[in-house]
Amino acid sequence: MKRANVTVDKDFVIAKTEDTLFSSFVEPLGRCIYGGLYEPGHPTADEDGFRQDVMDYVKPLNLTMNRFPGGNFTSTYRWEDGIGPKEKRPRRAEVAWQCIETNEFGLDEFAKWSKKAGSDVMMTVNLATRGVLEAMDCVEYCNFKGGTYWSDRRRENGFEEPFGYKYWCLSNEVDGVWQVGQKKPYEYGLLAKEASKGMKLIDPDIKTVLAGTSSRWSQTFPEYDATALTEAYDFVDYLSIHHYIGNYDGDSASYLAKPISTNTYFDQAAAAIKYVKTKLKSEHDVYISFDEFNTWHNIMQEERFEEKWRIAPPLLEDIYTAEDALALGGMLLAVLRHADVVKIACVSELANCISHIRTRNEGGAWVLPAYYSWLHYSQFGRGTAMQTMVKSDSYDCAEAKDVPYLDAQAIMQDNGDVVLFAINRSLDEQLDLNMSLRGFEGSFEVTRHIVLTADDPKATNTEVDPLNVVPTENGNAKCSGSTVTAQLDKMSWNVIYLTAVKE
Ligand code: AHR
Repeated sequence: MKRANVTVDKDFVIAKTEDTLFSSFVEPLGRCIYGGLYEPGHPTADEDGFRQDVMDYVKPLNLTMNRFPGGNFTSTYRWEDGIGPKEKRPRRAEVAWQCIETNEFGLDEFAKWSKKAGSDVMMTVNLATRGVLEAMDCVEYCNFKGGTYWSDRRRENGFEEPFGYKYWCLSNEVDGVWQVGQKKPYEYGLLAKEASKGMKLIDPDIKTVLAGTSSRWSQTFPEYDATALTEAYDFVDYLSIHHYIGNYDGDSASYLAKPISTNTYFDQAAAAIKYVKTKLKSEHDVYISFDEFNTWHNIMQEERFEEKWRIAPPLLEDIYTAEDALALGGMLLAVLRHADVVKIACVSELANCISHIRTRNEGGAWVLPAYYSWLHYSQFGRGTAMQTMVKSDSYDCAEAKDVPYLDAQAIMQDNGDVVLFAINRSLDEQLDLNMSLRGFEGSFEVTRHIVLTADDPKATNTEVDPLNVVPTENGNAKCSGSTVTAQLDKMSWNVIYLTAVKE
């Protein structure tokens, strides 16, 4: 059996975890919206065409906000296409995903859907092929009370009260050659600054997000980020970064080690921000907005070009399995571990494409194993991220040397309870966990030990077998004094809930 020790001290905290860390991303891509969130005529659709079977999986995630509408989709999007009477909306050739966009679901529908889901919206404006004025118009439509052209258009469209969207992305991945409207960093930095300035003059309460490099493997990272930020630093509030990981070559041991690179990416992006702040001698703080991340195996598959100009075809619908629950889980723990610098995190995407919530058109909805690590993160990740010191047996793999079998992160809940998230990366052995709690008053008792595991890393859930890989409360964690012990199943995701005992 492998062994690992964990130490958590009450005095050593990282930061509070912001509510905005519990967010997602919705793009009119494939069947994310059409056939996912929205399918008029579906047996579970409500009066707005919103699928309630999907809503039933979304609501427990308690998402603070959903980023919309992109994504690559944004780079040629006209937000005005998605407002007002549906019959007047234009059909467009949507070039990012090579589909026909009917615009039946747009900004107005997403406002309604989000309200019903209990979430806020994080809007992305198009600065790739449009300009500052269109971005300001969008803020005026969404957030201005009334008495102006765009705010009155909103009211005519049935929304008397402003939406009051607080978070605004200044375009998406404009560093990428795959975007129409790709920008050099200096050019983009200037544009982002002017857009942010104009948008904040319409609504001074908004926060804006500068689009950084789309991948840490990009040749231009972190130079692109630092150059663009240098132009816009005092005018923006967040730097956006994106990260997808996948099991590209069937090597599960390496795959489970990949979230280590998420941690490195945060450190590097935070260093770029700090460098610019230092260079400019600014008092202002910019934080990381990790507004797209997930597992994505067929990232290089250009399926969008296989058959063009379809309406809502099934795109980017990888089969995700039990091992993805640990891979996404590892990325989520990296987010919590960097709660001092990462303040927004949006799991990409909410339904069907690159998603762990799945549907069949006219059929059922079900969830894949990684849905549960995301759910637990959202249920138990709110509070204070604690420094979590891990000393673990380790392994070597193609991805990295000396990979600890244990990945762990503790969160102190606002009521004083402590939750330990723990991943056993070993594909074939249990892990003997010993956790010391230091400096806490009173004692704890283990009230839950949730375990998600499977004998086969490729086990998954389907519409006909939706409960094949689900969490159980079967864990064996025990607490005695200030020590918690547990045997973690091979290849498992664990949540150990320690209730503070009042003495
Ligand atoms: O989530 C799919 C795509 O991945 C997004 O549209 C884009 O921003 C990223 O490259």
